[in-house]
This record gives sequence, structure tokens and C-alpha cells, in this order.
Amino acid sequence: TRKVTSCRLKEMKQKGEKIAMLTSYDFTMAGIVDGAGVDAILVGDSASNVMAGNATTLPITVDEMIVYARSVVRAVKRAFVVCDMPFGSYQVTADDGVRNAVRIMKETGCDGVKIEGGAEIADMIRRIVGAGIPVVGHLGLTPQSVNVFGGYGLRAKEEAEAAKLLADAHALEEAGCCAVTLEKVPAALATQVSRELTVPTIGIGAGNGCDGQVLVVHDMLGMNKGFKPKFLRHYAQLHDTITDAVGQYVGDVKTGDFPNDNESY
Ligand code: KIV
Ligand code: NA
Repeated sequence: TRKVTSCRLKEMKQKGEKIAMLTSYDFTMAGIVDGAGVDAILVGDSASNVMAGNATTLPITVDEMIVYARSVVRAVKRAFVVCDMPFGSYQVTADDGVRNAVRIMKETGCDGVKIEGGAEIADMIRRIVGAGIPVVGHLGLTPQSVNVFGGYGLRAKEEAEAAKLLADAHALEEAGCCAVTLEKVPAALATQVSRELTVPTIGIGAGNGCDGQVLVVHDMLGMNKGFKPKFLRHYAQLHDTITDAVGQYVGDVKTGDFPNDNESY
């Protein structure tokens, strides 16, 4: 199994091969996800919600992202591993951004970083790529800006924001991004961006015209029952599976059925 590289992602787009990406935040899940054949794994700052229980992605730190990303990297043999740059790690100065990107690469062994934003961070991205670090962009619903957006609704519905997103996507490609994530934007816009860029787009809630797709692994496995936005497809009902298994275990302990003689020394 040859490791997927940033160059390979671009080659996949040229050959018309779709890119399948999922998040992971720990060794065990990443090993399963990688073994099942995803092309790329995102150590998303969605760990702030999914793993740490915060209401937004804002509180998670570089130190925390490094712990998650390291655990993922230890498990992965094939997939391209991208670590999100968390809120605060690049917003104050471009120097911070370069320094934190280098730190994440050095301390985790991941294959690249993902950064939210458009033309306003293009110069910083150019420096990070110049330092030898593959960068994935992220446009549309960028959750680190939830307090400006006022929620997690669809982005770029109107002409002005759509035009800005298209210009931002070109700025990211010119800055050297090896891929661009498009989150929660109209399918027609994502298709147009995907046609105009030579680097792959990876969509989440961005329709079928993207060059790849990404989902939060806990969401697609149906682990948080209440969360079912339109863009999400459930591939398992792990909330129910785990609830049933734990319920049976509790029952077996209470009745004295577990452990039996075969399970004892
Ligand atoms: O943090 C994350 O999981 C993400 C994806 C949803 C794109 O950024
Ligand atoms: Na993210």
C-alpha cells in the first residue's frame, strides 16, 4: 500500500477519480478508517465538538490538536493525513500561522494542514507551502467564523458571497493549496469552483460536483442520533448498536450471567 500524497490527490482529480475523506481523532478509529480504504483522513477541529463536547470549534488548542493528530498518524498506513489549524493559531499574525503549521508537522508526523479562509490568508499559505507543508484550504461555512455568520446555515446563496468564494478559491489555488474544502454551499457553485480549479475540491454539504467528499466519521456512523442535517448520510446506526451492547452488558452483570466459567481463570 503506497501512501497517498498531496501530489496524488491532484493526480486523482486529473484522472477523474473521486477522493473519499473522513475525519478521525484517535488511533483505533483511524486504523479502521484507513484500513477500509479512505484516501484522506482529516484530524478536524470538529474534535472540539465530537471529542471534547464543546459547542463550537473555537476552544480547541494547538496542543490538543497535536495529541489527536499524533494518535491518528500512528494508525495510518495509506491515507493522506491532514490536521486542522485551530482557531487562534493563525488569525493574529502570519508568523504565528507559519510557526504553528511547522509545529503541527514536526510534532505529529501528519502530511499537511487545513486552514479556514480565502484571499486574506493567501500570503500566509504561500509561506507555509514554501516551508514545505501541503495546505488544504477551507471555504464556505467555515465554523471558526460562526460568531460572524450567526449560525451554521448554508453560505454563498447570494451572488456577492458566491463571487467572493470563487475568487477566494482561485486565490487559494494560486497560493499553492493542494486541495480546497467547500462546506455547506450550493451545489451549482461548488461545481463551478471544481471546474475552474486544477486542484481538487472536497465537499461537505456541497453537492456531487466536487472532486471528493468529506464527512465527520461520528456523524456518518450515526453515533450522535440527534444530528441529521440534509447533507449527512448515515452509513451505520452506532448509537443504537452501542446502546444495545452496553444495555446487554449491564443486564448480564446485574443478573450474574457475566462472566461465566469460560470467561474466568
Ligand atoms: O473539522 C472538520 O471536521 C472539518 C470538516 C467538516 C471539513 O473541517
Ligand atoms: Na474543521
